[in-house]
Amino acid sequence: MAVAKKMLQFMESGSWIRKMFEEGARLKKIHGDEKVFDFSLGNPNVPPPDLVKDKLLEIIKKDAPGLHAYMPNVGLQETRSAVSAYLCREQCVSLAEKHIIATCGAAGALNIILKALLDPGDELMVPAPYFVEYGFYADNHGGTLKAVPTRDDFTLDLEAMEREIGPKTKIVLINSPNNPTGQIYSEESLRELGRILERKSEAFGHTIYLVSDEPYRKIVYDSCCVPCIFKCYRDSLIGTSYSKDLSLPGERIGFVAVSPEAKDASSLVDALSLANRILGFVNAPVLMQRLVVELQGLCVDVDIYKRKRDIIVKGLRDAGYELTVPAGAFYLFPKSPLKDDVKFVKLLQEENILVVPGSGFGGPGHFRIAYCVDDRTIENSIPGFRRAMERAKSIG
Ligand SMILES: Cc1ncc(COP(=O)(O)O)c(C=O)c1O
Repeated sequence: MAVAKKMLQFMESGSWIRKMFEEGARLKKIHGDEKVFDFSLGNPNVPPPDLVKDKLLEIIKKDAPGLHAYMPNVGLQETRSAVSAYLCREQCVSLAEKHIIATCGAAGALNIILKALLDPGDELMVPAPYFVEYGFYADNHGGTLKAVPTRDDFTLDLEAMEREIGPKTKIVLINSPNNPTGQIYSEESLRELGRILERKSEAFGHTIYLVSDEPYRKIVYDSCCVPCIFKCYRDSLIGTSYSKDLSLPGERIGFVAVSPEAKDASSLVDALSLANRILGFVNAPVLMQRLVVELQGLCVDVDIYKRKRDIIVKGLRDAGYELTVPAGAFYLFPKSPLKDDVKFVKLLQEENILVVPGSGFGGPGHFRIAYCVDDRTIENSIPGFRRAMERAKSIG
């Protein structure tokens, strides 16, 4: 077998979302698109704002010299400057262009952060459930993932985190609004986490970094807002993208922001820049960097996702599902009526409903619904969810 053993293992263990997506495609061929309810992928279905197309055309038509050229690995000066100016306004912090690195999406951002910070054997702590790719990203850079369960409502279990932070912990990685739960961590809990990290850094004699993965920052409901991590802990970094708020996931554009207060901030930026190059990203896509200069603060219509959230929450609650209402992102993480979430996901599959088992996110006993789909798909899926609940009750 040509493929490395570790990759073979990863291909097997990390394939839930892909498996469900492929199953959806298979079922659609048999039953037709209308009869299959595919909630497996977090691919935004709200189109990008019109301005995206207008500005992109403007940029291309200008045909300026060097339009498509290489650039410094940290990104274009005007992009870094526009991003830092916007973050100063949005999060009321004082930040300069030298603290920003343009990246290939949030995934690129997280990978350069881990490359820059992890030594072999270092631990990356994440509250569970968590975005399944984190385990692979940690492994990419010689680290190991340590998952610490959250509370029943998916808020941070700070006592458990404090207990679990050890001499090998180098990074605590949070994601808020969260994929797969939609939870937003409160400022109070993040400030407390900051105090814990200060104490632990002191006790273990090395800095523990707090990394905040924020691609859903602007997708929030009911006047919720996402606290600024830089105000909660000095040694912190943000990794994010325009994949969800501008619906541009295929364009691979995002950034890292390093807290200006962070120890060694400037050598950290140098390391992130080198990581961008040697991981083979080189730099973030240039047209997209030029585009986001013009689009700071813009977002898709979040009310569209809110409407979808409300339809699915009501439909599932009426059908007897237990769930925590998501405050942001476009995922719902209800309790599985069967203890075995994989078994319940198979029952849903028999109703042509594709969701992902919670075990795939370190959250067994639940399942994930990505409700970034047509309203009609959500509405028409409810009878199937209801029947699966009845069958689960009869199984016991
Ligand atoms: C929590 C989380 N982090 C990171 C990413 C990767 O985002 P991007 O496509 O911008 O790399 C995703 C994508 O779904 C995500 O859900």
